[in-house]
Amino acid sequence: MQKVTLIKGDGIGPSIMDAATKIIEASGVPIEWEERYAGVSAFDRFQSPLPDETLESIKRTRVVFKGPLTTQLGKGFRSINVALRQEFDLYANVRPAKSWKGAHSRYDNIDLVVIRENTEGLYAGLEHYIGPKKNTAESIAVITREGTERIIKFAFEYARQNRRKKITVAHKANILKYSQGLFLDVAQEVAKLYPEIECDERIIDATCMHLVMDPNQFDMIVTTNMFGDILSDLIAGLVGGLGLAPGANIGYDTALFEAVHGSAPDIAGKNIANPTALILGGIMMLRYLGETLAADRINRAVEVIINEGRYVTPDLNPDSRTGTAEMAEAIIGAMS
Ligand SMILES: NC(=O)c1ccc[n+]([C@@H]2O[C@H](COP(=O)([O-])OP(=O)(O)OC[C@H]3O[C@@H](n4cnc5c(N)ncnc54)[C@H](O)[C@@H]3O)[C@@H](O)[C@H]2O)c1
Repeated sequence: MQKVTLIKGDGIGPSIMDAATKIIEASGVPIEWEERYAGVSAFDRFQSPLPDETLESIKRTRVVFKGPLTTQLGKGFRSINVALRQEFDLYANVRPAKSWKGAHSRYDNIDLVVIRENTEGLYAGLEHYIGPKKNTAESIAVITREGTERIIKFAFEYARQNRRKKITVAHKANILKYSQGLFLDVAQEVAKLYPEIECDERIIDATCMHLVMDPNQFDMIVTTNMFGDILSDLIAGLVGGLGLAPGANIGYDTALFEAVHGSAPDIAGKNIANPTALILGGIMMLRYLGETLAADRINRAVEVIINEGRYVTPDLNPDSRTGTAEMAEAIIGAMS
């Protein structure tokens, strides 16, 4: 039986995770969940946001299904999401966005994937105040040739395996000539190894504008850590919001699956959180585990329910009274 470390997370995490795990269980895939804690819920129980028990479980299972974790603004412990990505060298963050017929959005034919470098850049954790008065602070962006080579290769290999035709390298090499310049140089070198896949490059600010104006000129985008973080929320907005955006964090021997969104404290406890993003993260996990039939079956059921638009949470249909758990029940019903 496949063991998976399960971290329900903070805020809306437990409710959307209960929905997602029920659906996966209903698909009949033999998974044994090892529930562990991280983030605020772990701090409350173990006085540590990332207890040894959690790390030990991940080192054994090598597969993690995780709800969103709260990170306090400008204080408190470091982001546990970032810590997990660095600890297990989960260097590639795959964030797809696809239009759903029933979800109201600006466009109805989006099919995009952002590949975000996940361990370097401005999120490398190198930041401090300068001087005793704390009037100045600096954060250092780290870009390495090795880190760039592997994420660009990952993007091109993903394109090959998923029959994608074009990759855009999004960067800021016009201003950050060293760090972003290195990223762009290495990307262009690696792109030559994949002549069948079209590759272009674009400055990040223009990329944002073009994504909003005419997203269909993009197929896949590969970029550095913070730009990828921002772009993936942008593309989620193009297909109907954060409730529909999953993410897979992939390393050499470990993978972690989640929703792109956070713990949404503004709606926690109200039974209105959309579980779809996490369910789609679960579908990515099933594909990673080779459970393609179950993944397809759940995906079709999610499609039926969203396209129908009746049993969906209010972010997808403001007239709906359907809660998180009820939407999961409807998806399970559509699976049979
Ligand atoms: N991967 C992660 O664990 C992750 C990712 C992003 C943010 N965070 C953390 O989450 C906390 C809250 O961050 P935030 O408020 O900036 O971003 P957020 O993604 O939690 O919420 C942004 C907006 O989207 C809405 N939203 C998010 N998920 C939704 C869902 N499933 N259904 C319906 N609406 C949804 C929220 O209600 C809110 O209005 C912060 O502590 C942040 O650090 C964690």
